[in-house]
Amino acid sequence: MRSRWLVWGAALVFVALSCSGCDDQGEGTGEGTGEGFPTSEGFGEGRWINGSNGTCVNCADHCSCVVAGRPYIVHGESLVAEPTPAESAGAAVMPGASEWGCMRDANADDADVLKSLIMEALTRADQSADPWPELTGTLALQARLPQLLTAAHEALIDIPAEERSKWHSAGLVEHASVASFAKLGLELLVAGAPPSLVQLAIGAQEEELLHAQISLSLGGAGNGTCSSLQFPEHTLEIHRDLASLRSAAIREGLQGEGKSALELLGRSLDALGKKGNNEALPFGAQALSELLWAMGKDEARHAQLAAEVINWVDGKTKQQSLQVKVRNGEVHVFEI
Ligand SMILES: [Fe+2]
Ligand SMILES: [Fe+2]
Repeated sequence: MRSRWLVWGAALVFVALSCSGCDDQGEGTGEGTGEGFPTSEGFGEGRWINGSNGTCVNCADHCSCVVAGRPYIVHGESLVAEPTPAESAGAAVMPGASEWGCMRDANADDADVLKSLIMEALTRADQSADPWPELTGTLALQARLPQLLTAAHEALIDIPAEERSKWHSAGLVEHASVASFAKLGLELLVAGAPPSLVQLAIGAQEEELLHAQISLSLGGAGNGTCSSLQFPEHTLEIHRDLASLRSAAIREGLQGEGKSALELLGRSLDALGKKGNNEALPFGAQALSELLWAMGKDEARHAQLAAEVINWVDGKTKQQSLQVKVRNGEVHVFEI
C-alpha cells in the first residue's frame, strides 16, 4: 500500500534522519507542497514508517526518512494510522474535506445539551437571562486570568478553611480531567473518530488545565506561592472499544460533566446575588461569577461533547440513540 500525503497550502519543513531501513542515508532539510511522499528534497513516491531510528519500506528509489513532527512511540515502535477502505474510498479532494473524515459543519446547531444545562441553571436560580452572554468559556478569559483571580480571591477572603479546602480538592480533580481528556483523545483516535470530535477533546483538555489553575488558586492562600503537581505514574492500554467509549460518555461526560456544569453555573449566579446581573457589584464578586460561569459553560460543552461522541458511536453501530433530559439539577439519560 502506498501512503498518500495531501498538503493544502502551507509549506512544510521536514527534518531528515539517518535511515536504517533503506540505502539512502538522507540528511538535511527540505520543503514542499503538493501530493506525494515527503523526502529530503520535497515529495516523491514510496511508503515511510518512522521509528526512533527510521524505517522505510517500498522506497528504494526515493527513500529519505523524515520526521514531520513528533512521533507516537510505544515500546520502541512508532504507530501511525492506516486508512480504512471506507475512508480511502471517501477521500474527498476538495477544500473543507480531507482524507480523514469530514470537517465540522460550522452551522450545525447540535448544542442541545449545552443549552439545556444553562437553562436549567438559570431556572433553578429563578433567573431568565445569561448574565455573561458574551463569555464563551475560560479560554476567552486567559489573558485576564491573573487580574480576575486576584479579585475573586479577595471576594473569598473570609470563607472558612473547609470551603477553601474544597476548592483545592476540586482543583486536583480538574487536574485529573486534563489526563482524562488526553486519554479520551487517544481513545477517539484509536476508535477512528472524526477530527471534529478529536478537536473538541483537545480543546476540553486545554480548558481543564485552566479549571485546575483557577480552582487551585481559589483554594490557595493567595500569597503567590507556587507549587507543582505530580500526577501518579500509571500504565495505559487503549483499545478500540466503542461500547466502553459510549458508556463512559454517558457516565463521565453527560452525567458527570453535566452535574459539574450545573453546580458551577449555580454558584456563579449565587455570586451575583438576587439581582442576577453584574451591575453595581464589587469587582471581586463579579470576577468570581465570571470565572465560575466560564468554567460552567466549559463543563456544559464537555457534556455536549459526550453527547456527540454517543451520536457518532450510535451512527457507526447502527444503534438507536439516547434521549437526554436535564431537570431537577440532574442529567437523565434514556435509551430510546
Ligand atoms: Fe473542569
Ligand atoms: Fe470538564
